Amino acid sequence: MNADLILCSPQVVTCAPGDAPRPGSQMGQLGIVAQGAVAIEKGVIVGVGSQTEITAKWSGKRIYHKGALTPGLVDPHSHPLFGGSRVHEFQMRARGATYQEIHAAGGGIWSTVQATRQASDEQLRELTAERLRRMLHHGTTTAEVKSGYGLSVAEELRHLKIYQELKSMLPMELVLTFMGAHSLPQEFAGRQSDYVKLVVEEMVPAVAAQGFAEYGDVFCEVGAFTVEESRQVLQACKQAGLGLRIHAEEFNHLGGARMAAGLGAASVDHLQFLPPEDFPILRQGGSIPVMTAGTSFFLGMSQFAPARGLIEANLPLALGSDFNAGSCLSESMQMAMSLGVLKLGLSPEEALLAATVNSAHSLGRGRQVGSLEVGKRADVLALNLSDVREWPYHYGVNVVEAVYCKGARIG
Ligand code: NIG
Ligand code: FE
Repeated sequence: MNADLILCSPQVVTCAPGDAPRPGSQMGQLGIVAQGAVAIEKGVIVGVGSQTEITAKWSGKRIYHKGALTPGLVDPHSHPLFGGSRVHEFQMRARGATYQEIHAAGGGIWSTVQATRQASDEQLRELTAERLRRMLHHGTTTAEVKSGYGLSVAEELRHLKIYQELKSMLPMELVLTFMGAHSLPQEFAGRQSDYVKLVVEEMVPAVAAQGFAEYGDVFCEVGAFTVEESRQVLQACKQAGLGLRIHAEEFNHLGGARMAAGLGAASVDHLQFLPPEDFPILRQGGSIPVMTAGTSFFLGMSQFAPARGLIEANLPLALGSDFNAGSCLSESMQMAMSLGVLKLGLSPEEALLAATVNSAHSLGRGRQVGSLEVGKRADVLALNLSDVREWPYHYGVNVVEAVYCKGARIG
């Protein structure tokens, strides 16, 4: 039979089986095929196995890569659409100011909201496209992208529409999340409940009517939204047919993660201050914990999410970049994996599973991407490393040599 392309490598890291999230000890198995090959036809994987098996069955153009082949990385948490720069806050933090102090003083998210509101569609499209291309060149072939720097009905819709346009411009897949409850806009100062009402009664229905966003998210935190307000927002999202995600327990344990798990959230994210008694509740809700070690690192926090405890409680962990304007300015899921090993105590195998199979499932994309298996989208990376276990070990640089999206090599 003829295939469009056959990729060959001394080490094909399939991450199979990927049809279900991989919890606990199942995160350690990468399904490596030595002297392996991946056959691709019309952007879809049609064969995976040893080079002998695959070339006996499939003919077609062969490309031999010297390094390992892996599935494209799946980033389940990012905020790449924003204007302006917070480099001055970065410097303030380096000298000892905390992220929350800056937020409380009117900087932080609000400063980015102002800059983003002022930017034209074209400026935002270009800035965001550049960031998404950087993600892609670092191996992210599927990315969840959040709104949340608009904080008005018109601005949130404008930002989601720009993401929607970028979806057709870029080869990677984007999964859109509405996050109107990211922070209280200054025009609602002292009227938090009015803003929550606006989100629930106007923003969510308007977003749902456009059909742009697949998920709804909320920042449940001191200085952002309470558990009760977050519940109202997520309930409205659920009613409107959106899947649910939450930013929870990032700086304090408020109970947002367990509340969201009770509503059936697809993911509960950040979790630096998640206590062990909440672990079984996440498991019962089927919510995938998304760890964003880059945020703790970039904010200079000593607290990291309890990854090992969650794995011992048999949960499937995912890793996200949390790329955003203020708390983590890195597009690289490779960096997220290195920090997953160094700061969360993951093994290199667990870090890769968390950045592929489990993150894909947290986005409802587990049947399409996340592993190299027949029927999945041909999103494949070729590394500059012969052994994939060295990936997080080689940190802070790009070791992706080639990115294939739907079987096409990205320049
Ligand atoms: O995921 N926690 C809230 N939102 C972002 C930070 C956004 C910002 O500081 O601009 C986060 O860390
Ligand atoms: Fe975030």
